[in-house]
Order: sequence, then C-alpha cells, then structure tokens
Amino acid sequence: MKNYIGKVNSIKKISADVYELKILSDLDYAKSGQFISIFVPNKTFHRPFSIADFDKERKLTTVLFKLKGEGTKYLSELKKEDNIEFLAPLGNSFELKNKNSLLVGAGIGIAPMLFLKKELNKKNIKNYLISGFKREEEIIFGSDENVVGGSVLDNLDKIIKEKNIEIIYSCGPKIVLKKICEIAKNNNIPCFVALEKVMACSIGVCRGCTIKLKRNNEIIRASVCKDGTIFKGEEVLWED
Ligand SMILES: Cc1cc2nc3c(=O)[nH]c(=O)nc-3n(C[C@H](O)[C@H](O)[C@H](O)COP(=O)(O)OP(=O)(O)OC[C@H]3O[C@@H](n4cnc5c(N)ncnc54)[C@H](O)[C@@H]3O)c2cc1C
Ligand code: FES
Repeated sequence: MKNYIGKVNSIKKISADVYELKILSDLDYAKSGQFISIFVPNKTFHRPFSIADFDKERKLTTVLFKLKGEGTKYLSELKKEDNIEFLAPLGNSFELKNKNSLLVGAGIGIAPMLFLKKELNKKNIKNYLISGFKREEEIIFGSDENVVGGSVLDNLDKIIKEKNIEIIYSCGPKIVLKKICEIAKNNNIPCFVALEKVMACSIGVCRGCTIKLKRNNEIIRASVCKDGTIFKGEEVLWED
C-alpha cells in the first residue's frame, strides 16, 4: 500500500446520483475486492471507495461513487487533469474459484462486482451478475440482469437452482448481505461478502472498523479495512 498522487482522467455522471471517476496514476497492481481511500482537502479522514475497474496498461483506476456528503460532493466537482491523492491498493481481495459464480450487487454495491466480473471473464469462469436499484434512474449498467423497484433477493433462490450456482459474491447494505448469506447457506453454497464500515485510517492501525467473526468456534475481532473487506459470510456475526 502506498500514497499516490494521480490525475483525473475523466469524470462523468452515470446515473441519478452516481459518478464514474477514472484516475490516471502509477498504481500498478490491484485486484477485485480491493479499495482505495481518497484524500479530501480539509477533511481528517480519507473516503474509501471500491475499485470498479483497474487497467494496468492504461494506468487507470476506476471508482463509482454515489453522492452522500461533502467528500463526494468535492469529488463530483473535480475536473480532468485535477490532482487526486489516494491510498491504494487497500484490503484483501476476492478469491476466484473455478465455480459457477453468482455476483450480486445491491445499489452502489455493484461497483466491486463489475471488476470481479471482468476478472472471472478473463479466466473463463462462468458467472452471472445481478444488481438491484430502487428506481430506473439509478441503474448502473454492466449487469446481466437489473432488478428495479424490487430486491436482488427476489428470485435469488430460483436463479441459484436454474443457473446451477456454486458460489456467491456480494456487496451491498448489511441487511441484504445477511439475507443473501442465509439463502446461500440453505442452498449449501459458499458466500463471500464485501463489507463496509466507517473508516478512519483505512489501513488497519486505528482499529475503528472492527467487526466480530466466529472462526473455529471462537469469537474474534477483525478490521474491515485490513482483514477484509471480503469475508466468508458464514463467519460474520451480523448483529455486531
Ligand atoms: C470499503 C468501502 C468501500 C466503499 N465503496 C464505495 C463505492 O464504491 N462507492 C460509493 O459510492 N461508496 C462507497 N463506500 C462508501 C463511501 O466511502 C461513503 O459514501 C463516503 O465516504 C461518503 O463520504 P462523504 O464525505 O460524501 O459523506 P459524509 O456522510 O459527509 O461522510 C462523513 C464520514 O462518514 C464516512 N462515511 C459516510 N458514509 C459511509 C459509508 N456508507 N461507508 C463508510 N463510511 C462512510 C465518510 O468516509 C466520512 O468519514 C465505501 C465504503 C467503504 C468502507
Ligand atoms: S479504519 Fe483504522 S483499522 Fe480500519
């Protein structure tokens, strides 16, 4: 992990309140599931964002960000060629298995799934991506199927059976991830989740982002930013 000062290569609005930001930098390594943490002037804490794409040849790192507060407003007003400072690559990554994979992205949770899909495709691993949005204007394209107005949970069980799914990867709100893991468990298939927690340092130092896991019958604490953000769904204690 290093601190990079890159340049905005492009920034564009891609749905109602989501922007796609491409950063040109010297970052030369990133895997799906990892994230970057962007410095925002006059703010104590960096803002973490999943890597939605990484193109080593063109030196481009892509993030998709949804407008939330001052940090994301600042990012949305950046212009081509502006400097952008960030820590990267952060966190662990998805472990790619040669299994029929179902990728589920709820809302902006689609971001890391797009990068994962690209990596699975490169390895010719069969995969299927579904994403869910509250309204049509919020759709971010790139999925095999978009669920609008409903929930990505609708029909999940049916899709697992129909597509012969052997593993699930997912990102989205905690409540949705918990349900996806329950459905995976009922179908006897593993489920990996990308978790989010408000972060201060983003690099495993402050211990401000810990969650509880149950591993080998023991309860342990893990930091989302360093030990994750990808965890085995069956180990996560969701009530934490
Ligand atoms: C590992 C990780 C990956 C993420 N990936 C994405 C992504 O790909 N796209 C995207 O749009 N958002 C993503 N988020 C959420 C994103 O970091 C927040 O929306 C963003 O930091 C909000 O900053 P703000 O200043 O605009 O909002 P404010 O609400 O003003 O932020 C205040 C503080 O709360 C933190 N914060 C606010 N919302 C969240 C949140 N949901 N999760 C974590 N911290 C939060 C901020 O970092 C900041 O420190 C991710 C969060 C984490 C932890
Ligand atoms: S944010 Fe500091 S340890 Fe994770």
